[in-house]
Amino acid sequence: MKVIFFSFPGRTMKKKAPVTLGRSLIWFSWKLVITFSVALCILTLIKFHSSSRSDLASASLSRRLRPPPDTLSARPKIAFLFLTRRNLPLDFLWGSFFENGDVANFSIYIHSAPGFVFDESTTRSHFFFGRQLTNSIQVAWGKSSMIAAERLLLEEALEDPANQRFVLLSDSCVPLYNFGYIYSYLMASPRSFVDSFLDGKEGRYNPKMSPTIPKGKWRKGSQWISLIRSHAEVIVDDDIIFPIFGLFCKRRPPVDGSKGNMNIKLQKQHNCIPDEHYVQTLLALNDLEDELEPRTLTYTLWNESDTKMENKGWHPITFNYANAGPRRIKEIKGIDHVYYVSELRTEWCRNNSTLVPCFLFARKFSQGAAMRLLSLGIKTRFDS
Ligand SMILES: *[C@@H]1O[C@H](CO)[C@@H](O)[C@H](O)[C@H]1NC(C)=O
Ligand SMILES: *[C@@H]1O[C@H](CO)[C@@H](O)[C@H](O)[C@H]1NC(C)=O
Ligand SMILES: *[C@@H]1O[C@H](CO)[C@@H](O)[C@H](O)[C@H]1NC(C)=O
Ligand SMILES: *[C@@H]1O[C@H](CO)[C@@H](O)[C@H](O)[C@H]1NC(C)=O
Repeated sequence: MKVIFFSFPGRTMKKKAPVTLGRSLIWFSWKLVITFSVALCILTLIKFHSSSRSDLASASLSRRLRPPPDTLSARPKIAFLFLTRRNLPLDFLWGSFFENGDVANFSIYIHSAPGFVFDESTTRSHFFFGRQLTNSIQVAWGKSSMIAAERLLLEEALEDPANQRFVLLSDSCVPLYNFGYIYSYLMASPRSFVDSFLDGKEGRYNPKMSPTIPKGKWRKGSQWISLIRSHAEVIVDDDIIFPIFGLFCKRRPPVDGSKGNMNIKLQKQHNCIPDEHYVQTLLALNDLEDELEPRTLTYTLWNESDTKMENKGWHPITFNYANAGPRRIKEIKGIDHVYYVSELRTEWCRNNSTLVPCFLFARKFSQGAAMRLLSLGIKTRFDS
């Protein structure tokens, strides 16, 4: 706020024709009132101008007043954010995972199809009852509505000041360790875990996003993130980058026979998948990359033989009962580094100087695979 000094004319006008004390007092008061009114008008104008600009820049998803972070009195919680199509097919596994935790240490939020209810008739674990958002939206996979749903989950979870870590999970994700291990792993790091790398050759960046999103800040990475509170706030409060993604980051539609020549135009579009770029790019634009562990905590196995399907790219392999045996799980838990081809970067997974397992979660697991995992028991790394 600018500080403006006004000098009162009355003070400088010392030499005056003698008038009676009463009249000069009234005159002086009048001048004070007028001066104050003018000053007030000017101040209001200045304030209006500067605030209408900063409101644009900082307006948030909702104008709800967020509670101040309350780290002293409450125990820090992990918010588990489930992004699902409808039900949670692996609820029985997660139920046993949460059974093993301390209810004071976590909270659960679910974004599902509007109107879907989590209760005794749809869900095998009471932890999920009534945990779906009331303001959920219809999500189209690969569209902006996906990142809109993520923002709704984060917004709701920020309402609880005890939530200090925010983990985004799909309906096919499984935990690889017990609750206590995952809790201390996440709490030990003061950073977010966000897989983020340069996306040089793929042509998903649309130059129309410039200059708000310069090409140098364009990032790619896995949708499955774990955030610290301040980064969750940056995402929920973003009112500038999200609309640009809505306009210019779109998935290229498949060739449609009925559309004829229209296909040529549609196929020229930049093939962009919002949820693989939005959070990474937004955090880079906010210069927050030194507060990240640039890796995901969620393991995915890619089917690299899928290259001929250019449009869709690689597909994650779904684990089933047969290929989710103890040896496979042990292999995944044993991974302690990740290689990023586009940056020639090897990311060692560390907790300070100690090497730790890279992955706490894995996808995509079928019910059979999850059942096998449950029968093996989700153990800590030390007793597996
Ligand atoms: C719950 O949180 C407390 C305090 O942060 C911690 O000491 C305890 O180990 C946690 N319990 C579990 C099961 O993670
Ligand atoms: C990370 O280190 C902290 C102490 O520095 C320790 O309490 C925690 O258990 C470690 N976490 C893992 C996953 O090794
Ligand atoms: C590493 O150790 C320092 C000091 O003990 C601690 O402040 C910091 O949070 C630790 N970092 C991680 C990633 O555990
Ligand atoms: C990988 O993709 C190919 C081609 O689509 C398919 O034939 C194969 O079954 C897939 N492999 C796995 C393990 O899913």
